[in-house]
Amino acid sequence: MQLKDLLLGLGLVSSAWAQLADTSDYPIGPLTTSDEKWAVKVCDITDYGAVADGETDASTAIVDAFNACSSGGVVNIPLGTFALENWVTLSGGTAWAINLEGIIVRTGTAGGNMIYIEHSTDFEIYSSRGEGAVQGYGYVFHEQGEYGPRILRLYDVTNFAIHDIALVDSPAFHLTLDTCNQGEVYNMIIRGGNEGGLDGIDLWGFDLHVHDVEVTNKDECVTVKSPANHILVEDIYCNWSGGCAMGSLGVDTDISKVVYQNIYTVNSNQMFMFKSNGGNGTVTEVTLQNFIGHENAYSLYIDAYWTDETLAAGDGVLYNSITFNNWTGTCENGATRPPLYVLCPSTQPCTNIIIEDFAMWTESGSTEYYKCADAWGSGYCLHAGSEHTEYGTTTSTLTTAPSGYSAPTMPGQLTAGLGLTASIPIPTVPNTFFPGATPATARVYGS
Ligand SMILES: *[C@@H]1O[C@H](CO)[C@@H](O)[C@H](O)[C@H]1NC(C)=O
Ligand SMILES: *[C@@H]1O[C@H](CO)[C@@H](O)[C@H](O)[C@H]1NC(C)=O
Ligand SMILES: *[C@@H]1O[C@H](CO)[C@@H](O)[C@H](O)[C@H]1NC(C)=O
Repeated sequence: MQLKDLLLGLGLVSSAWAQLADTSDYPIGPLTTSDEKWAVKVCDITDYGAVADGETDASTAIVDAFNACSSGGVVNIPLGTFALENWVTLSGGTAWAINLEGIIVRTGTAGGNMIYIEHSTDFEIYSSRGEGAVQGYGYVFHEQGEYGPRILRLYDVTNFAIHDIALVDSPAFHLTLDTCNQGEVYNMIIRGGNEGGLDGIDLWGFDLHVHDVEVTNKDECVTVKSPANHILVEDIYCNWSGGCAMGSLGVDTDISKVVYQNIYTVNSNQMFMFKSNGGNGTVTEVTLQNFIGHENAYSLYIDAYWTDETLAAGDGVLYNSITFNNWTGTCENGATRPPLYVLCPSTQPCTNIIIEDFAMWTESGSTEYYKCADAWGSGYCLHAGSEHTEYGTTTSTLTTAPSGYSAPTMPGQLTAGLGLTASIPIPTVPNTFFPGATPATARVYGS
């Protein structure tokens, strides 16, 4: 589907629409449909030696099927369970797709990326029945206190889509989009173990649209890294995760024109966090709107002194023209961790930060506070004006709940994190990712 029709159909606000590049010059997603690719050629991995027995290594069959279809066609991974003992690099395809009907299970133990796709154009990976998955069996590493390979990484891929699949229990990161352009990720579920280092989706590049995704882990939900511009992330359910973020940011940060909207976050470290420690460059023209949170440690959070990151050279990343709008719900304990926390570099104060309609209340106790340091703009504890000077810290305390804070919950919230010592079952891709919202693009099968 054309992204423009999709956005017009949704009646999305123009500020969000403007974040993606003009579709007539920069179409998003595959340039040819999967039906067209099926009509060109089908390379079924079982014709290249793969056996759906959960034991025979399918890596050579996948590479051979790719080589036969890489200039147009579909690499078909049919129903059944296929083992991956060696990792696959699929380099240079055009007008091709992977139909992941069955399940790929990790049996090898090397590091790196189980599936690495690079220098491709007009690419799609999806499951036409919506039941395809990659099972990483990460718990085998995690119960030893170790990490293993990442599941799926795209590098230098243009005009692509990833949809209607599940990525489960990665031994490390689940999905990384490294320097990718004009791509779409949607109708996906990611379910990892309950510890750091198991990122959901990390992305950087140009003109990327991520929507209708659920992530469980305890690290990045959907996170933008530098450099990136023209990014739209919407209808995301961080279901016991680390939460969405931007960072970590360091030297030569270059991020602009990013919108996150309709983000539901439960039991995570934060609803949204900008994280840097020193560094330089700029984050600008970012809008974060319609956020709902419950049971999160932090909510709205800029931390320019994030000590989990090694101090980078520079006066600090400049956070400029960042708008937060329409945040509701509750936080764990607003008296110990402020739900509104804007900590800017004293040597590089934030400018033009705008916070509007922020109404969050604490789940424990009856007070909460807001904290701003060296942050200029408008709203709440920010210093009003367009100066760019150090002023120290301002706090304000609330002793009554702000009006309108109450926000709906999603069905089926987790009551505990997922195991590090037992296998995580493959879930089905859900049909809603934000209270009251249905996916923008219909599920491919059975919806
Ligand atoms: C950031 O600092 C490095 C040196 O530490 C410098 O080479 C670079 O030009 C700076 N970048 C920006 C955007 O100021
Ligand atoms: C604020 O966000 C909620 C969802 O949390 C949405 O239903 C509502 O329409 C938004 N309000 C405005 C004014 O956009
Ligand atoms: C959230 O994750 C839990 C655990 O995997 C699952 O049981 C629940 O169904 C999820 N919620 C939704 C709405 O998908």
